Amino acid sequence: MMNDDIEKVVYSEEQLQAKVAELGRQITEDYKDAKEEIYCVGILKGAVTFYTDLVRQIDLPVHFDFMIASSYGNGTSTTGSVKILKDLDYDIEGKHLIIIEDIIDSGTTMNYLMKYFRERKPKSVKLCSLLSKPSRRTVDVDIDYCGFEVPDEFLVGYGLDYAEVYRNLPYIGVLKPEIYA
Ligand code: IMP
Ligand code: MG
Repeated sequence: MMNDDIEKVVYSEEQLQAKVAELGRQITEDYKDAKEEIYCVGILKGAVTFYTDLVRQIDLPVHFDFMIASSYGNGTSTTGSVKILKDLDYDIEGKHLIIIEDIIDSGTTMNYLMKYFRERKPKSVKLCSLLSKPSRRTVDVDIDYCGFEVPDEFLVGYGLDYAEVYRNLPYIGVLKPEIYA
């Protein structure tokens, strides 16, 4: 079974739900007086699980939008270039954007996307990332809402994949070394 490939659990379902609830409360508080519309932009596919849990903890009317950006192959480190495979559906000029991402690693993807969003003149842009690996950063990214800072280990589950598998694990964990072999 899939569970047998996991060496250790890093964040359990309960820990993830508690953190997501905390982030949702904070976002609700920060945007409760916003006059312009709020667009929650999920970065597919990794953020999808976090996204669907988080938006249900935001007690404000929000719009859904999604992007697909790719900077990874099937390995475990970035190739450096970012490609937009699916753009936003809506015109975001004058709107509040909350970008929802699974993990900021080297920062390459989000550094690129943040510039891209700002060029479209939203009223504001904030970044909410479940995970951050500060020790891996090669370009600067400001994370407004960060769930957990994690050490330099390759993580899977709760949306995060290895070669497109393990996204549906309900927790976040580390794979056994022989899986990469
Ligand atoms: P960055 O551009 O290097 O910051 O990479 C960001 C993307 O790399 C994330 O959105 C993930 O898709 C992927 N990524 C980075 N670290 C991990 C990890 O530990 N597990 C799974 N995917 C990761
Ligand atoms: Mg991703």
